[in-house]
Amino acid sequence: MKKIFILLMACSITGIATAQTNFDLKTHQATPTTKNTAATTESLQSTLYQLIAHYHGVQQAHWNVQGPQFESLHGLLGDFYGALGTDIDRVAERQIILGSPADGRPRQVAQTTILGATPNGFQKDYDVVKDLSTKTQKLSNFLSDQIEITGETNVVTQDLLIDVKAGIDIYLWKIRSFSYN
Ligand SMILES: [Fe+2]
Repeated sequence: MKKIFILLMACSITGIATAQTNFDLKTHQATPTTKNTAATTESLQSTLYQLIAHYHGVQQAHWNVQGPQFESLHGLLGDFYGALGTDIDRVAERQIILGSPADGRPRQVAQTTILGATPNGFQKDYDVVKDLSTKTQKLSNFLSDQIEITGETNVVTQDLLIDVKAGIDIYLWKIRSFSYN
C-alpha cells in the first residue's frame, strides 16, 4: 500500500514537472511592439504614479469634506475616485501588456507625485474645491504632455491616455463649477 502511494506521488510530481515544461512556450514573443517601447512604458509609469496620488487625495477629501456643500462634494468625489481607480487599472495593465511591470508602491507614488501634499484632517468645502481644481488641472496638463509623447511612440497607448484625460477633464469641470468664476 505504501509503495503504491509513493509510486502515485512520483507520477504526480513528474506529471506536474512535465506540464510546467510544456508551458515554456516563449509567448513573450507575442508582446506588441511600439516605435519606442521604453519611452511609452515610462510615460505610462509616470502617469500611473500621478493617478494613484490623485486617487488618494480625492478619497481623503471625499471623507473629510465639511460645510454646506458636503452632500454634493461627497458624492461627486466618491464618483471621481471610483473613476480614477478604473483608470489606474487600465494604465497599469497597458504597461504590462507592453512587457514592463507596473509599480504602484506607496513610497514611490509619494516621491514622484507632482500634485503636492494632501491636506490632513477635516477640510472646508471651499478649500476642497480650490485644492482639487488646482491638482486636477495639473493632472490634466500632465496627461496632455504624455499624450504628445505617446503620439510619437505608440498611438494605441496615446488613445488610452486621451480617454483617461477626457474623463478627468469632466471631473475638473464639475469641481471648478462649484465656484462662480
Ligand atoms: Fe464613501
